[in-house]
Amino acid sequence: MSSPLALHGGQPVRTAPFPAWPVHGPREEELALEVLRSGQWWRYTLGEAVDPTQSPSKVAEFQQKFAAAHACKYGIACVNGTAALEISLKALGVKPGDEVIVPPYTFIATASAPMLIGAVPVFCDIDINTLNLDPAKLEAAITPKTRAIIPVHFAGLPADMAAILAIANRHGIPVLEDAAHAHGGTWNNQPMGSIAAMATFSFQASKNMTAGEGGIVVTNDEKLAEIAESLVWVGRKKGRPWYEHHRLGWNYRLTEFQAAILLAQLERLEEQTKTRQNNGAYLTAKLTHIPGIKPMAVPAYATGHAWHIYCLRFLESEFGTTREKFLEALTAEGVPASSGYAHSLFNNPMYGESHAHYNETCPASNQACHEAVWMEHRYLLGTQSDMDDIATAIAKVQANAKNL
Ligand SMILES: Cc1ncc(COP(=O)(O)O)c(C=O)c1O
Repeated sequence: MSSPLALHGGQPVRTAPFPAWPVHGPREEELALEVLRSGQWWRYTLGEAVDPTQSPSKVAEFQQKFAAAHACKYGIACVNGTAALEISLKALGVKPGDEVIVPPYTFIATASAPMLIGAVPVFCDIDINTLNLDPAKLEAAITPKTRAIIPVHFAGLPADMAAILAIANRHGIPVLEDAAHAHGGTWNNQPMGSIAAMATFSFQASKNMTAGEGGIVVTNDEKLAEIAESLVWVGRKKGRPWYEHHRLGWNYRLTEFQAAILLAQLERLEEQTKTRQNNGAYLTAKLTHIPGIKPMAVPAYATGHAWHIYCLRFLESEFGTTREKFLEALTAEGVPASSGYAHSLFNNPMYGESHAHYNETCPASNQACHEAVWMEHRYLLGTQSDMDDIATAIAKVQANAKNL
């Protein structure tokens, strides 16, 4: 009997595409055209408007609205999420040679941002059930040189902030949330981004809100906001002359075009987040019983998963085949998925062998690199029947695992 798998000539579960990303419509067009036609593609937003007859800057409006949507008083828009991390670390007083604790299962920016300002990332392992920084391992990573801790809300699942903050506060170390995956989500009913001293978001093309590129720093601390803004504006200071620089800063400003697109994207965020949450929970319920498929845990504090990635762990021996063959078969069934981060950050070629010792202290991160399966958040913008297709395709591949 021939195999029903699409790989071997059988019918794929799905031939229709999943929803496309980014979602955009007349609001993006309207706001972007407004900027285009105004000829004011760049605006002064550091303090008072230079020309009070000008309509308000879209960057200023976006900063205020995005920050407010995340329960923060201040938002400082910038070129990308990596820059937002650099700015925040500098604002928090991190200096060359200082240590910054980061998880190793994240995008390189979480570790490269400290390095780009001369600091040293120290890797602390993740919890294999949540794929977020493991508070049980945190204390051991702290040294007299530790000046900041960056938990990542990986995939949109909140990190265990109560436990992390308790340890950080005991040592007097500030915490910076890397919320690049966490737009619109909540931890204990509080928006991610408003939990620690500062937080950063990314608006790069794959993120849950995007202008192609972009980033923002948010905080409730006026002093930190002032420093962050100055850093984005080449060290300028509110109310002081244009060619007067008060600190070493960057030109990390966002353009009015990007802010126009982001204003429109923000209007859709709440509804899209709800759709992702409903579909994410529904899909998890359908996948939980398939042998070898382990969706990420959703602890009680994760009141609003932001679902940037639908991530699960693939256990080869229980499922009955390798992850590589599974991904190939699943793609043939019309549900493309990926294996995510290829390496724990410390095993990236840029470090050579110098960070090999982290293989001893961070086994869960290596396990995640070996087991993870990622699906893009755009799938979760589909219908319940789309989720049924994903579950059917995975179950079909599992039932036929021995034939792969
Ligand atoms: C966890 C995390 N942090 C930071 C960043 C950096 O953002 P960007 O690509 O906008 O520099 C990313 C994104 O790509 C990310 O996934």
